[in-house]
Amino acid sequence: MATHNQIFEGYTDFIATRGVKEYRETIPVWVNAEDIVLEIGCEWGTTTTLIAPQCKKVIGTDISSKCIGRAREMYPELHFEVLDGFDVRAALELDEPFSKIYIDISGLSGYNSLLDTIALLTSYATVLRPEAIIVKSGALKRFAGHCNAWRSPDNQ
Ligand SMILES: C[S@@+](CC[C@H](N)C(=O)[O-])C[C@H]1O[C@@H](n2cnc3c(N)ncnc32)[C@H](O)[C@@H]1O
Repeated sequence: MATHNQIFEGYTDFIATRGVKEYRETIPVWVNAEDIVLEIGCEWGTTTTLIAPQCKKVIGTDISSKCIGRAREMYPELHFEVLDGFDVRAALELDEPFSKIYIDISGLSGYNSLLDTIALLTSYATVLRPEAIIVKSGALKRFAGHCNAWRSPDNQ
């Protein structure tokens, strides 16, 4: 079983974006034809339609059954499921080897939710082990921009 250090040394990349424009402009950079993508917080599927042509498979999910109902009506060719993004076990039960995860859950952009955002990313990285998680969170982007991983001169 992998330890936390092994998980964070080089497996999952975290990409923090601010606003929907940045969130969507990561798609051609981070999604490729082999990817199976989980999208959390898809609302009625606009970003799902942008991810779908770039990858092997995408499942758009949202906590709101109303949003998922509308997404299914608008884009019957795409796969949508109701899912609470904080329920990582339910995401695991989708039973797909997700290689990329997109997360845009209302409320994750404020500083008050920074700890929740980090905990959520950590849970997905640990349980689903995707290559990358792309999240829309202006607070995380600002925080990450000021983070520097100290490298001890003894280890170089
Ligand atoms: C800003 S909208 C997403 C817009 C969408 N990503 C797009 O690009 O068109 C945020 C969505 O998060 C959903 N949401 C809120 N809490 C959630 C949760 N715990 N799990 C999954 N979705 C959630 C809301 O229902 C809403 O549809």
